[in-house]
Amino acid sequence: MKKIRIESELEAYDDLKELPKDIQDLMRAAFEARDAAYAPYSKFHVGAAIQLENGIVVKGSNQENAAYPSGLCAERTAIYYAGANHADQKINTIAISAKAQNKETLTPIPPCGACRQAIAEYEVKQDQPIVIYFMGERGAVFKSDSLRNLLPFIFTQEYL
Ligand code: THU
Repeated sequence: MKKIRIESELEAYDDLKELPKDIQDLMRAAFEARDAAYAPYSKFHVGAAIQLENGIVVKGSNQENAAYPSGLCAERTAIYYAGANHADQKINTIAISAKAQNKETLTPIPPCGACRQAIAEYEVKQDQPIVIYFMGERGAVFKSDSLRNLLPFIFTQEYL
């Protein structure tokens, strides 16, 4: 028997203002996306903004449904839009912001497991890491240089 140790490294910033202007702008696009969330059931609003290599920004928000599992998270709404409409463009960066309607969301909110797996697919497809920034409605921002920090054991096409 031998033990396997997995290390992840993220950067933690106290405030968005500590980050470069282009990242602040991308996060502001995520705030805008968040405002367009359709979340009447959870009242938890999430926005994601994706920066493509050609500079285009693609936005997505969570879209809920009375049949709960039919809804979709912000991150997957955005990344599937990018895949469907800009298939030839690599994804450089994703900025994510979440805000609960009934309480303050001041801690960084990471993408859920299913969204991590979806992001992983595109990171493998484009053979280039995707930088991920995530936060609540304000306050601290976490940065990961690759999806792999958030989901070390990704399931990929190589197993199929
Ligand atoms: N949600 C996201 O949009 N992204 C995540 O990574 C976590 C959860 C949404 C799904 C649902 O509409 C609401 O937040 C509560 O789970």
